[in-house]
Amino acid sequence: MSCKNIVILGSTGSIGINTLKVVERYPDKFKVVGLTAYNNFKLLEKQAKIFQPTHIGVSDKGIEYLKKNINTRKTKILSVKEDLESIVTLKNVDVVVIAMRGAGALGPFLAAVRSGKIVAPANKEALVMAGDIIMEEARAYGATIIPIDSEQSAIFQCLNGQKRSELKKVFLTASGGALLNVPKSRFNRLTVKQILSHPRWKMGKKITVDSATMMNKGFEVIEAQKLFNLKTNEIDVLIHPEAIIHSMVEYIDGSIIAQLGITDMRLPIQYALTYPNRLDSGLKSMNFVELKQLTFQKPDFKKFPSLELAFYALKKGGSLPCVLNAADEVAVEAFLEGDLQFNSIYEAVTKVVTQHKIVNSPGIKQIFDADIWAREETRKVMSQL
Ligand SMILES: NC(=O)c1ccc[n+]([C@@H]2O[C@H](COP(=O)([O-])OP(=O)(O)OC[C@H]3O[C@@H](n4cnc5c(N)ncnc54)[C@H](OP(=O)(O)O)[C@@H]3O)[C@@H](O)[C@H]2O)c1
Repeated sequence: MSCKNIVILGSTGSIGINTLKVVERYPDKFKVVGLTAYNNFKLLEKQAKIFQPTHIGVSDKGIEYLKKNINTRKTKILSVKEDLESIVTLKNVDVVVIAMRGAGALGPFLAAVRSGKIVAPANKEALVMAGDIIMEEARAYGATIIPIDSEQSAIFQCLNGQKRSELKKVFLTASGGALLNVPKSRFNRLTVKQILSHPRWKMGKKITVDSATMMNKGFEVIEAQKLFNLKTNEIDVLIHPEAIIHSMVEYIDGSIIAQLGITDMRLPIQYALTYPNRLDSGLKSMNFVELKQLTFQKPDFKKFPSLELAFYALKKGGSLPCVLNAADEVAVEAFLEGDLQFNSIYEAVTKVVTQHKIVNSPGIKQIFDADIWAREETRKVMSQL
């Protein structure tokens, strides 16, 4: 495998830090040329000193600090608000890892795709908002998309070398999040800290709250449909609390191919960076005897209505998944700030989703318009709850 030049958008987050751990293990195979953060400029400074990228991006409040503390002859300091697209399209970039959270990833995702890069998205928001456009542009510009999200990576691996026409069903597994065994009557009494204690994965706050509501799984259903061009009825969600099977694909002959592994995001990250090759990850092997059993349950749509709402948004299509994403981002942020009760996240999001006048086959401008509309509408709805 020849050396790949990598840009990581969101290098200071959970996925970004894990990506740098993978990169660090193989200095002759990966070279970091760009890193971006948002507010955590002190961590970005440390990362920049270790990995010596030619470009870094940060929010305005970090720019002055970094200009004083980084060798600007070696590393250009850019604005995370304005320059992400120019960082991902640098000529020498081979792989763009999208490890930043939120809708802001859509612009740089599209720019990377349009310059024919290998794009490795952990970010699911962009695909939920505009998956059809992204996939169409990837085909038109010859870009390769290798997902990092563990379920999508699993499906990608299970589809490898198989015929799409022979696929019967995709089983998207879900650990069930922090509330799987908590009665719904207690949800509003739990603290933010309790909601943030995911039993299997250590992730950023937004996605951990989405795992508790199961909106995260709903987003993954939409993401999988877009990435792999599935029909909605080809996707099934299975609760699998051990989180060992990261997803499975059933074929028409009844054979099922599953991807299994320990719950460590370095596995799908490394796969995306080394594809189509594999390298020793240094991670521990799974001990099946200690594991003893793998269990499965049907998802409880009554207890976790966000999952059903996501299926609804996917079926209706057009601009609705984008609205779902924006409303959820605003509502979860309010919950994390202590301004919204846990159950009101769904209440607010569902109101905005049902009020939206769907634009069919939206272009990118209509996607951004729907995103702005949904954010304003969610704030209005939340103020009336
Ligand atoms: N964590 C996981 O295991 C996991 C698994 C599957 C998928 N994902 C997806 O991967 C993405 C990242 O998740 P995470 O858990 O790593 O999140 P996280 O820990 O919250 O990190 C988010 C990263 O994005 C940066 N960021 C935040 N707002 C930004 C903005 N407006 N513009 C540019 N950068 C911004 C943050 O910068 P600062 O920290 O400097 O402020 C940080 O580097 C999400 O879309 C999530 O759904 C995560």
